[in-house]
Amino acid sequence: MKKTLNLLMSTLAVCLAMPAAAQFAKPEDAIKYRKAAFTVMSTHFGRVGAMVNGRAPFDAKAAAENAELAATMSKLHWTAFGEGTDKGETRAKPEVWKDNAKFKEAAEKMQVEVGKLASTAKGGNLDAIKTAFGPAAASCKSCHDNFRKD
Ligand code: HEC
Repeated sequence: MKKTLNLLMSTLAVCLAMPAAAQFAKPEDAIKYRKAAFTVMSTHFGRVGAMVNGRAPFDAKAAAENAELAATMSKLHWTAFGEGTDKGETRAKPEVWKDNAKFKEAAEKMQVEVGKLASTAKGGNLDAIKTAFGPAAASCKSCHDNFRKD
């Protein structure tokens, strides 16, 4: 049992360490992947948002779970913006690649803010969650304004 587990862990470590480019066979796959990751992240983030805006009743456990899922998802997109993924079924602007440092900065900012939201949500206090939600939502919008076509 322990051996199997060790093997699993080392396989996982190898997979995680693979270079980003090797993770997708075709640029279309990367585009599909990142759009799916955005959709899943947005769904869980939006469920917290609905409680924050009073559109859904506050449920501390659901808020914490959804915020945690959003935070996990917020880590996944970035390897899928590799070379050659600027064309096709995508709304990403060329600035993603032209101004990649700024794009990465915006991605990191969002990860930090959504991470803060997730740790705040564990506390189960709606007012604190409301305070953390604002900057997280703003970090989505500011990147979309600069790097996503409408
Ligand atoms: C660093 C930049 C950046 C940040 C931060 C960001 N996004 Fe996006 N988002 C993009 C880009 C670029 C696309 C377009 C992806 C594509 O079409 O290839 C996108 C697409 C999306 C989509 C559409 C996915 C689809 O199926 O086409 C949703 C929904 C979304 N983002 C939600 C969010 C939410 C919610 C947040 C914040 C929690 C967020 N995004 C933060 C850059 C960002």
